[in-house]
Amino acid sequence: MADFNPVDPIIAKRDSEALPPDTIQQLVDAYTAGDVPDYQMSAFLMAAFLNGLDDEEAAALTDAMLHSGVVLDLSATGGTKVDKHSTGGVGDKVSLILAPIVASQGVPVPMISGRGLGHTGGTLDKLESIPGFRTDLSIDAYKAQVDDIGIVLIGQTEEMAPADRKLYALRDVTGTVESIPLIASSIMSKKLAEGIDALVLDVKCGRGAFMKTEEDARALAETLVAIGTEHDTSTTALMTDMSVPLGRAVGNWPEVDESIQCLRGEMDDSDLMQVTYALAGEMLHLGGEADTPEAGRTQARRAVASGQALEMLRTLVEAQDGDVGVVDDPSTRPDSEPAATVEAPDEATGYVADLDALAVGRLAVDLGAGRRTMEDDIDLAAGITFEKKPGEAIAPGEPLAHLYTQRTDRIDDFRTQLIDAYAFSDTPPAERTVLLDRYTPDGWDEW
Ligand code: URA
Repeated sequence: MADFNPVDPIIAKRDSEALPPDTIQQLVDAYTAGDVPDYQMSAFLMAAFLNGLDDEEAAALTDAMLHSGVVLDLSATGGTKVDKHSTGGVGDKVSLILAPIVASQGVPVPMISGRGLGHTGGTLDKLESIPGFRTDLSIDAYKAQVDDIGIVLIGQTEEMAPADRKLYALRDVTGTVESIPLIASSIMSKKLAEGIDALVLDVKCGRGAFMKTEEDARALAETLVAIGTEHDTSTTALMTDMSVPLGRAVGNWPEVDESIQCLRGEMDDSDLMQVTYALAGEMLHLGGEADTPEAGRTQARRAVASGQALEMLRTLVEAQDGDVGVVDDPSTRPDSEPAATVEAPDEATGYVADLDALAVGRLAVDLGAGRRTMEDDIDLAAGITFEKKPGEAIAPGEPLAHLYTQRTDRIDDFRTQLIDAYAFSDTPPAERTVLLDRYTPDGWDEW
């Protein structure tokens, strides 16, 4: 280690050479220890972004970040522990619905989630919009809870994958986020540190996702599954559409409210529940509670219809000190009244043709629901709920959406942004497919 010179791997990657695993390990260790400065690591990241990393290099980077901190051991907890990770989207509250469904069927779900950044939301912020809900449990409390009730949702602790935390923050400010091997190793280093046995990935594709094209989303899914398989973690990836916001709510509390409606069985035909049931089917199958993913989907629907899944959400909220009263009656949460209702413009005669997820995600940040930097405060009640989504009939003056914000001085600007995110047509648009493809170590399956 004494004669390690970080300039050597920077030059090698600049010249498109493949780096041996021990060089990647040395570089990550030295950066995490503070022995390599940000400017050198930035140069390396940009070289890796531009010239790529092959599968062996991506695996070595994952290992180096995974072993930079604590790797949890949940072997004392019975059952096959399964988690899900989404590559990030707008209105993506799937974890809040999915984790209780799966846990209610006897598959333990230990989930470590992140916060929203950029135009995408994060599960931790959503959970914290439930008054009192604690996401800062210690590792011992995390282990005890999954053992006790079969479900736990917390934030990444200081001890887990610290190299990824440091590298992700650097990538965020050096234009090096949207790289398939860098994203795959970042996600997998965190997930493999959780102590899970199996993982289901929701790889988002479209204008509201990091991967804008199907080609890139497929490559990311393949890399993620390859890394999971190499680490003896059964991994399946679903590729799902993120060109339109998922469900009818965007923003932290609005999304929790919608998740409760879903768990009450009130939104079973939505795009949101299609994605949720598909992921639940995979998790129940990998967790050994369903013979096939299809059987798992049917079981997941029954878990909602019977009320078992909603009861599991109550158990989770109670265990993490949240106010169960708002689960029983979401209208009791303060600040849940909209600041404005946006009506359809004169040209909206016919159908909603489109709703741009990226524009909606950016509007949600402007309303106060998201951060521009990790230090920003957010307004947990801010967001948007949609009365109309693509494919639905519309006439001028009908309500399109409700806006929740404390920034009422900018309400006219927000109305314009919201209307600009919509497109209208005289004829119904083509039906949208949300579930695109499925990838396992055996290859791709079409839906
Ligand atoms: N999510 C992550 O955890 N890491 C990335 O690099 C991108 C999305």
